[in-house]
Amino acid sequence: MAEASKKAFVTGHPIRHSRSPKIHGHWLAKHGIDGSYQAIDVAPQDFAEFLATLQANGYRGGNVTIPHKETAFALVDRRDEAAEEIGAVNTLWFEDGTLWGGNTDGHGFAANLDDHAPGWASNGPAVVLGAGGASRAVIHALKERGVADIRIVNRTLARAQELRDRFGAGVSAHGMAATNELLADAGLLVNTTALGMQGDETLTANPALLPDHAIVNDIVYVPLETPLLAAARARKLKTVDGLGMLLNQAVPGFERWFGVRPQVTAELRALIVADLVPKL
Ligand code: ATR
Repeated sequence: MAEASKKAFVTGHPIRHSRSPKIHGHWLAKHGIDGSYQAIDVAPQDFAEFLATLQANGYRGGNVTIPHKETAFALVDRRDEAAEEIGAVNTLWFEDGTLWGGNTDGHGFAANLDDHAPGWASNGPAVVLGAGGASRAVIHALKERGVADIRIVNRTLARAQELRDRFGAGVSAHGMAATNELLADAGLLVNTTALGMQGDETLTANPALLPDHAIVNDIVYVPLETPLLAAARARKLKTVDGLGMLLNQAVPGFERWFGVRPQVTAELRALIVADLVPKL
């Protein structure tokens, strides 16, 4: 009997904005794999049932996005180290019938900077704007890559303090009022908040206050050049947009489900950039 076609998915609610099917579809075609990667909208009340029937429905695994990342974390049989540290799961796969949950967002963040700003991890203190789920993935990656001074800045100080307590040594928590001072000797500024997304011109940190060698990264990728990145570019700082994080976070999942480690290429990036016009 021929081997069944390999099936994977991305689930969220809503899910129609997801670019993941385009990314994985590109790699499936490129490698000539008999497989599929499908977007599946699952409402929160149906998510547990969805997970429980995955294997019976022939899935090798898939991606999980908002609002299911924390629920997936709670429901999987086993979790990898990154998922444990971040407290959320974005990638699911089976090993000998056991449902594993991993988190590749931190990997995507670090790989994007490796691609576009080599040496970033030894460039000095990092200032991270925001203290939500995305921030946890970024801080995990910064710690893993040895950044010794990580400064979380958040509108709600208590949330920054929770992350400081969670990640421990080398991580400090600050309210917005401290931002200017924290930027003066920073080597990396990362925005993890939704501020600066399409149509939002608000800037919470001024790149003009950063030293000349600083790198600025926004994990928001719609628009590709956020107001923060535009201001950093005007200041002649090295900038890295957020699209590479999305592309790189997809790599480990594809390898698990389909058995080939795919490449993040200029061709793939161009394909997704062409798709970035807002979907209504
Ligand atoms: P995600 O999982 O995408 O990180 P989240 O958990 O909702 O999303 O976190 C959103 C982050 O953006 C938080 O740090 C939030 O600040 P608060 O913790 O104070 O809510 C930040 N954020 C959202 N809107 C903001 C605004 N208008 N001004 C400043 N920070 C904002």
